[in-house]
Amino acid sequence: MDTTIDLSLAHRPDLSDRRVVIVGGTGSVGEGVVRAWLAAGAEAIVPSRTQGRVDQFTGVLGEAATDKLHFVVGDYTSFDAAQELAEQIEAECGPVTDVVASIGGWWMGKNLWEISQAEWDRYFVGLTTAHVAQVRAWIPRLPEHGSYQLILGGSATQPVPGSSIINMEQAALLMMRQVLSAEAGDQRRVTAAVLGPVKTRLRHWVESEWVSADEVGLLTTGVAADPTASATDYELSTTAQMIAQLRGLGVYPQEGGEAK
Ligand SMILES: NC(=O)c1ccc[n+]([C@@H]2O[C@H](COP(=O)([O-])OP(=O)(O)OC[C@H]3O[C@@H](n4cnc5c(N)ncnc54)[C@H](OP(=O)(O)O)[C@@H]3O)[C@@H](O)[C@H]2O)c1
Repeated sequence: MDTTIDLSLAHRPDLSDRRVVIVGGTGSVGEGVVRAWLAAGAEAIVPSRTQGRVDQFTGVLGEAATDKLHFVVGDYTSFDAAQELAEQIEAECGPVTDVVASIGGWWMGKNLWEISQAEWDRYFVGLTTAHVAQVRAWIPRLPEHGSYQLILGGSATQPVPGSSIINMEQAALLMMRQVLSAEAGDQRRVTAAVLGPVKTRLRHWVESEWVSADEVGLLTTGVAADPTASATDYELSTTAQMIAQLRGLGVYPQEGGEAK
């Protein structure tokens, strides 16, 4: 079984007719998602709460930051703010076909019975509200052939002692994916990538079998390009799982051969 991924072999789909909003695109996983959509020819729009974060991120992207990448600075984490930003983005850039929501915020350090109200509000209420705000703003606007993709972590299903708030937040969002698919039926394609630890530029050490942010990005482009990819949670804790899913989506060569 293959356990390494050579992204120079990837069969990147042509998404030049797509316009994606990558919420949390300035983050450590979002960075790989932004790069992958730009490499697939899509127009990518990244909302960010602060100009400072945009400036820092543009420096990180370097030459990958083509003229197809746009930033919109402003709050997007409340219902009203997300609606206003969606209206602004469509007015300035045109109709959006896809959304990837990779909104971050890791927390750990206390047992559940020791957490403060402020920690609960920030990491459960704040992050789930930011996600639901994107759903309200974007699901009604997306075309049937588009996609709404959540980037989540294995803490949605595996308890991590000391990180209960994130466990509960991620579990709620995984159920949000499922109920959204049940409610939207064939009208919208909603998926989640449920990741183990990710190789990102911010990690001081990584394990070889972890998936990388760029691989997650390639997966999201494969989901967007495959009209049958819908109502699915992609479990991606290891490179071997990532290879299997990338092959299933036809964006990575089969063992000893071509992509499907
Ligand atoms: N990093 C990993 O190893 C890893 C592993 C498994 C799963 N995941 C999942 O991947 C998703 C993204 O994680 P990440 O590590 O890329 O996150 P991150 O780097 O901490 O943040 C991603 C972006 O989210 C935006 N954001 C909006 N509200 C936020 C808030 N209240 N707190 C922090 N950030 C906020 C920020 O964008 P602006 O400041 O530009 O607005 C930030 O750049 C999460 O669902 C996470 O569970 C990550």
